[in-house]
Amino acid sequence: MPEPAAAGARPRVFVARVLPDEGLEAIRAVCDMDLWDGALPPPRDELLRRVAGCDGVLTLLTDRVDDEFLDAAGPQLKVVSNYADGFDNIDVAACTRRGIPAGNTPGVLTETTADLAFALLMATARRIPESVDYVREGSWKTWGPMLLMGVDVHGATLGIVGFGRIGREMARRGRGFGMRILYHDVHPATPADEAELGARRVEMDDLLRESDFISLHVNLTDETHHLIDADALRAMKPTAVLVNTSRGPVVDPDALTDALRAGEIFGAGLDVTEPEPLPADHPLVSMPNCIVVPHIASASRVTRGKMAAIAAANLLAGLRGERLPNPVNPEVYE
Ligand code: DGY
Repeated sequence: MPEPAAAGARPRVFVARVLPDEGLEAIRAVCDMDLWDGALPPPRDELLRRVAGCDGVLTLLTDRVDDEFLDAAGPQLKVVSNYADGFDNIDVAACTRRGIPAGNTPGVLTETTADLAFALLMATARRIPESVDYVREGSWKTWGPMLLMGVDVHGATLGIVGFGRIGREMARRGRGFGMRILYHDVHPATPADEAELGARRVEMDDLLRESDFISLHVNLTDETHHLIDADALRAMKPTAVLVNTSRGPVVDPDALTDALRAGEIFGAGLDVTEPEPLPADHPLVSMPNCIVVPHIASASRVTRGKMAAIAAANLLAGLRGERLPNPVNPEVYE
């Protein structure tokens, strides 16, 4: 196993993918950085080998950080910094047990993610990819009274599941289109927030039944795994559109495939899937009423740069033994 950094030496870190310069430059300036520059994530055995002896690691949502990973890194590991808001790839309890702070990149991707969620909502409602294909394949012969009819966005009811930062930004976008906003969250928003966002909290069953558009913004937990299953899909309107920019396993993909095939709902716009990546021959990829994009909700240049800067700040703070600006396990400091 490689030796940990000697006192006074530059800390050794492993960075699991090439990130925007806003993060890499800060890390390179003060660390002995091992950068995985493959286009795909490091294979598991390579990852475990590369983190051995590191003082800090910067991981992505494609890297599982669990006891095996932490054992492979070794007892000198001071910090895990995840380049994402979500951290379901990290066994937080395992980090905390070992006194290792783990960080994420919240806040900076809120609007960008809501923008993409709303783009998927509109593209699915108005059948944009289908329409583009129609023109590209030479099928456009005339203006058609019945051609590629979709569902209206303006004035429709938007049901938001998970009313955290991104869910609330989604509400703002919906308000801009004159939508009626319902939300479901175990934690009610304050009356002032509800008034400002024009949102009303309802039970999940009511949200499924009443919404024309349902947008998912929950974390992936045991409770939210396959939250949208066959029963939930059956409860939706036949004209409903489902949008998922949260985590793939929140939706049961087989149930969604069946519902889209049977016309139980109008369409789905997915930024995240189960599994990820979704193989090109998966039925959801070729269904005309389903749009799948490759987990790009936070992918604007500015936002990915800000995420890199935050991930670097978490990493460097942890290496200095300081509190991370964005710890996901603040209990580690108690
Ligand atoms: C996140 O940050 O959790 C997104 O899924 C990727 O930006």
